Amino acid sequence: MRAPLSARRVQARWLDLRLSAFCLPSLQREEKSKWRVVDSEADFPNSRLAMDKTPTRIALRERCLFPPPRSGGGRRFDKADAGSEERRNVAGPGKTMTVERKPVAFGDLRGWLQALDGAGELQTIDAEVDWNIELGTVARLAQGPGTGPALLFNKIRDYGENARCRQVFAGALSSYRRIAMMLGLPPDTHPRELVKLGRTVLTGAIPPKIVSSGPVKENIVKGDDVDLNDFPAPQWNRADGGRYILTYGGVVTKDPNTNVMNVGVYRGMVAGKNMIPMLTWRAQHIGHHATAWQQLGHTEMPIAVAIGWEPSLDFVGGAPVPKDLSEYDVIGAIRGAPVELVKCETVDLYVPASAEIVIEGFMSFDPATFLPEGPYAEFTGYIAGDRSPKSAIRVTCITHRKNPILRGTIEGTMPGSYSENSVTSSVMRAATAWNVLDRAGVPGITDVWCPPVQAGVNVVVQVKQSYRGVAKQVANALWGSSAAHVRYKHVTVVDDDIDIHDYAAVDWAIAFRVNAGEDDIVIMPSTFGAGLDPSVRKRDRNVAQFGTGKWHRVLIDATINLDYDPDPDLGGARFPPTVRPEQKDIDAVMKRWGELGLDKPKR
Ligand SMILES: Cc1cc2nc3c(=O)[nH]c(=O)nc-3n(C[C@H](O)[C@H](O)[C@H](O)COP(=O)(O)O)c2cc1C
Repeated sequence: MRAPLSARRVQARWLDLRLSAFCLPSLQREEKSKWRVVDSEADFPNSRLAMDKTPTRIALRERCLFPPPRSGGGRRFDKADAGSEERRNVAGPGKTMTVERKPVAFGDLRGWLQALDGAGELQTIDAEVDWNIELGTVARLAQGPGTGPALLFNKIRDYGENARCRQVFAGALSSYRRIAMMLGLPPDTHPRELVKLGRTVLTGAIPPKIVSSGPVKENIVKGDDVDLNDFPAPQWNRADGGRYILTYGGVVTKDPNTNVMNVGVYRGMVAGKNMIPMLTWRAQHIGHHATAWQQLGHTEMPIAVAIGWEPSLDFVGGAPVPKDLSEYDVIGAIRGAPVELVKCETVDLYVPASAEIVIEGFMSFDPATFLPEGPYAEFTGYIAGDRSPKSAIRVTCITHRKNPILRGTIEGTMPGSYSENSVTSSVMRAATAWNVLDRAGVPGITDVWCPPVQAGVNVVVQVKQSYRGVAKQVANALWGSSAAHVRYKHVTVVDDDIDIHDYAAVDWAIAFRVNAGEDDIVIMPSTFGAGLDPSVRKRDRNVAQFGTGKWHRVLIDATINLDYDPDPDLGGARFPPTVRPEQKDIDAVMKRWGELGLDKPKR
């Protein structure tokens, strides 16, 4: 946390704020004007062009709050492992952070496993673990608050020597260290830097390359030979409605009008040998595609799920990529190289050629074909009781590598055990909020953060206030945007002396800068929200009636109230000084610190 301000500095700061109201620096924006075509065997027909990279630096300014790396493992992840260098301009006003990004193409899931192992980030489990409840319980308990390792389960009950699939991999993206590795950043990169990169990382594009074959075609299973039970899909939680084979796969569909493919993460449960009911919404891009196919008179649409590849597939599939941009292009930009895609066997869709497993089929729109799905451990950390008929994939073919590894994840975040979804969301939902505020022209935003334990349902915004009312502008801009779907229920706004990555600092600001009688707490009633939130009454979860469920949203304005009168007793400042000693007193004591027999000062 930066030094709180003395009375005189508060006054000076107020003058400074008034000045800055007239001369706020504009945000530097990413140059999007230079484009080039990528050489490839065959440029992917639906993707377009790749963006040239703009060299810039983000200076690392703050002390790192990361826990030390886990012990064990061999070689640490080294920047030299990374591919071609990319530096990206993501600096905001008053931000001079620099971190170097070197995109990494891991090749496939196995290359990613090697990198994790080398960095001491992978725990392989050779003891036999039961797919039924035990594996999910291990994953949840091992996860920790962003501190647990990625887990590779090598021996799973009922899936011995002769099984088609014998391994499950989970937990890779439940840590900021590993998200940084995926993005080609040093593992100890501060989450604040990840957010800044997240502001632009979904808009880069390197088109994929079509190849004629790849390891995923080593085994092709069709028709009656298809049996989803061949795969050790875990019963992740005792209360789940079944075994979930799709928890962190890239679900591929295409717009029948434009042929642009979408890759999204949607969960799916095993229902017999060849059926997978899924949770999807018409508001998601997969839903847009379903509507488009239906409008053309089709009763079902082609679908494929790529399970187990480089981490960017999962990360980008679960992130809000703009609709007209294929996730494959974005993944290419993240890894700094085109994704190699092969055509599916039974549907006209493309999947990564070195994916571990690909499930192909058709998704029906006919309610008569819907199958019961759920309940399931939701992202909120609660088991939503819902079991209802859902549209299902009718599997027509499965292709897989030799000894395929099933990628999965334990969903549902809670204190002390942060899910992969919540850790990745904390970065991307903060980045999205910052972009929304920027586009809306809200002045003085210096940082945005969504702590991982709540996956962006609460957001904290740090501002350099230039007038009373910026906090309300922040809340209005966020709640008025489509990005507020299932996010940003509670918005807290603090001044720029509060480190929003420090829970205690935010709590301190709420305790001593919020006065509910001065309009610091504002409720925006009856907005769209999230039906999955257990605090929403059952009758208010009706998606048809309330969009995505009814939410009463709250702004907590924890900034210093600039509408207070300057206090002559405080030298004209509006707020008293804090107890932090003045710098000259600190400097004097520091000169004698060695004599006192104390450890280093705590602050
Ligand atoms: C692990 C994980 C599980 C998810 N499960 C679902 C799901 O079951 N249904 C859903 O609609 N969205 C789910 N999401 C969120 C979507 O993946 C996310 O909204 C994504 O942006 C959707 O893709 P789209 O932007 O192409 O619509 C999940 C995300 C993650 C990371």
